Amino acid sequence: MTAISIIGSGNMATAIGTRAAKHGHTVELMSRDAAKAQALAQQIGNGATVGTFGARPAGDIVIVAVLYASAVDVVTHYGDALAGKILIDITNPFNADATGLATTPGSSVSQQLAAAAPEGTQVVKALNSIFGHVLAQDVPLDALFAGGSAEARSRVAAFLQSLDLRPLDAGGPEMTHVLEWAGILLMGLARNGAGFDLALGAEIR
Ligand SMILES: NC(=O)c1ccc[n+]([C@@H]2O[C@H](COP(=O)([O-])OP(=O)(O)OC[C@H]3O[C@@H](n4cnc5c(N)ncnc54)[C@H](OP(=O)(O)O)[C@@H]3O)[C@@H](O)[C@H]2O)c1
Repeated sequence: MTAISIIGSGNMATAIGTRAAKHGHTVELMSRDAAKAQALAQQIGNGATVGTFGARPAGDIVIVAVLYASAVDVVTHYGDALAGKILIDITNPFNADATGLATTPGSSVSQQLAAAAPEGTQVVKALNSIFGHVLAQDVPLDALFAGGSAEARSRVAAFLQSLDLRPLDAGGPEMTHVLEWAGILLMGLARNGAGFDLALGAEIR
């Protein structure tokens, strides 16, 4: 069991928080709107708590579950409160019609967060290429992730596995931009025949 903190109280915060609590983790919710965090904590149950937006998170793993355009500001707002934490960046920096990205190679949202975060904080991109409503089904899925140090990725892998997800390590920080494109791939497949009840996976032979 891990203590995890989630910044945000929207769709993904709900899906991840619910799944994490069901699988035995202690979940702390932090939102700029304390009432929304409180309502979500009640909905999740299982001892979920509410933390103060901007204060040091209780969890060693902190899920950044806000829109990509706000993510750097949010991490900057937390500042030293995030020192030593592992941040999971779930953002999809989609352009207006979700056919391309607002980020460029070498400057993924994860890499921008790593630059904004205090020294020693690790940023791992994960869960961005799984639709929230599919994650909420609580069925086994493949979970692609990348970024941060090898040690941070191994801790994120253990966390993903504990949620009944199969962790698939795509590599270091340079691969986080590839995972942002994986979000676009997911959208393209969903829109062109596969439908939105879809998850990406790898076949290992
Ligand atoms: N939905 C999906 O299927 C899915 C799948 C994979 C990845 N993602 C990614 O996950 C992230 C969250 O998506 P979502 O669907 O959960 O979005 P959402 O339902 O719109 O929730 C966004 C959350 O971000 C908070 N927020 C926005 N701007 C903020 C700011 N400046 N400071 C602090 N908090 C701020 C919102 O707070 P308020 O409630 O106060 O506005 C809300 O709690 C996005 O980056 C998205 O690309 C989504």
